[in-house]
Amino acid sequence: MTTLLLGQTLAFTADPFQTDPAGAVRHQTHGAVAVDDGRITDVGPADDLRRAHPQAQVIDHGANLILPGFVDAHVHYPQTAIIASWGKRLIDWLNTYTFPEEARFSDPAHAAATAETYLDLALAHGTTSMCSFATIHPASVDAIFTAGTARGMAVWAGKTCMDRNAPGDLRDTAQSAYDDSKALLDRWHGAGRARYVVTPRFAPTSSPDQLSALGALWSENPDCLMQTHLSEQTDEIAWVRDLFPEARDYLDVYETHGLMGERGLYGHSIHLTERERARLRDVNAAVVHCPTSNTFIGSGLFDMDLARMLRTGLATDTGGGSSFSMLRTMAAAYEVAQLRGQALHPAQLLYLATEGSARALHATDIGRLASGAMADIVVLDLASTPAIAQRHARADTLWEAVFPTIMMGDDRAVAQTYVAGRAML
Ligand code: GUN
Ligand code: ZN
Repeated sequence: MTTLLLGQTLAFTADPFQTDPAGAVRHQTHGAVAVDDGRITDVGPADDLRRAHPQAQVIDHGANLILPGFVDAHVHYPQTAIIASWGKRLIDWLNTYTFPEEARFSDPAHAAATAETYLDLALAHGTTSMCSFATIHPASVDAIFTAGTARGMAVWAGKTCMDRNAPGDLRDTAQSAYDDSKALLDRWHGAGRARYVVTPRFAPTSSPDQLSALGALWSENPDCLMQTHLSEQTDEIAWVRDLFPEARDYLDVYETHGLMGERGLYGHSIHLTERERARLRDVNAAVVHCPTSNTFIGSGLFDMDLARMLRTGLATDTGGGSSFSMLRTMAAAYEVAQLRGQALHPAQLLYLATEGSARALHATDIGRLASGAMADIVVLDLASTPAIAQRHARADTLWEAVFPTIMMGDDRAVAQTYVAGRAML
C-alpha cells in the first residue's frame, strides 16, 4: 500500500559545502513523497505522483515543508533529566551534575523510563535517529535500543566506558569494559535498526589499558562506529597532556590505542592542532559539532571550515547541550559561525542536521529525501508561532521562508514526524 505525503519538499542533490549551497537542493512547492513499506519510493511534483499512484492513501500537509528526519550525531540520553543545569564548566559540570545522574542508571527501571522519555522528546522535535552515549551500565544500552526498536527507529548507541577519574560506582575495568561492550555488541549490532558503537567516554576517564582494550574490540568489529570526545575545553586538553605525557596531542592518545579510523566520531573537536586536523583528514574520520553545548558550557567556537574537509555531523549533545531541538541547534551553529566570520547558508544548516549527520554515521538510508531511503521524515510548519509567522509572511524566497523557523523554531514547528512511514505524533 503506497502513501503519498503532500507538501513542499526539499531534497539535497549535492553537498552544499562543496558547491553553491542554493544550487545543492531540489525544491518542490507542490511536492509529494511516495512511501511504501517504510521506504521512500519516489519524490517529485505532487501532480506527477498522484497520477502515478492513483490508489495511494494521501496525507496532505498543505504548505508545510517535508524534510528528512533530523539526525542527532552526538547525544547522552542519560543526561535528559539534567539538561540546562547551570553554572559550571566541563569538568565541574561532569562531577556536579552528570556523574550523579548517570549513577542512577544502575537501576534498569530508571534507564528504561529515561530512554522512553528521551526518544519521545526527540520525535516531538523531529529527530528520527541519533547516536547516543549510554552510561557504564549495560542495562542502559539495552534500555535505549529496546525503546528505539519499539518505535522502529534507527539508533546508534554504546556503553560509556570509564575506569578512572570517575566516582567508584561509575567505574568499570579494562576487561569488564571489553567484555560488557562485546556482549552488547553481539546482542544489538544489526538487530533491526540498532547499531552498536564502541564508546570510550574520553581520554581522561580511561586508563591506557582500557583504551587499548576498546581499540581491540573496534578492530575486531570494523563495521562498528567508535564515538568519543576530542578537544572540547582547554582545561581538558591540559589534563590529557598531564595524563598522557608521551602523546603528541589529544588525538594521538586515541591513535596510539587503536581508536582512530574512518568510522571514528570525534565529538566537539574545537581546539584542534594543525596536525590533528590533518590526521583526521588522512583517515577520513568524522567530527561532530555540538554548538548549543559549546556555548552553554563555554567550550569554544567550532571551525566550520572542517565541514569542507571532513565528514561533519551536527548534534545537540544533550544534556551538555541546552536543547533537544535540531532547529535550535542549527540556529546555534549559525551564530557560532557568525562569530568566526563563517556565514552559513540555510541549506548548509539543513544538510548538517540531516544528510551531513547521516554521512558522519556512515548511514546512507537515512537523512535523505530520496527514493530508496527509509521514510524517516519531519514535516515543518514554517509559520508555527506568531513571531515566526509574521516574518514568514514577508518572505520572498524559499530561504527567507525557511530561515525564520531555523532561527526561531522549536517543537511547535514540528507538524509531524514519521519513522519508517509511521506517524509518531
Ligand atoms: N566529555 C566527557 N564526557 C562528556 C559529557 O558527558 N558531555 C560533554 N559535553 N563533554 C564530555
Ligand atoms: Zn558528549
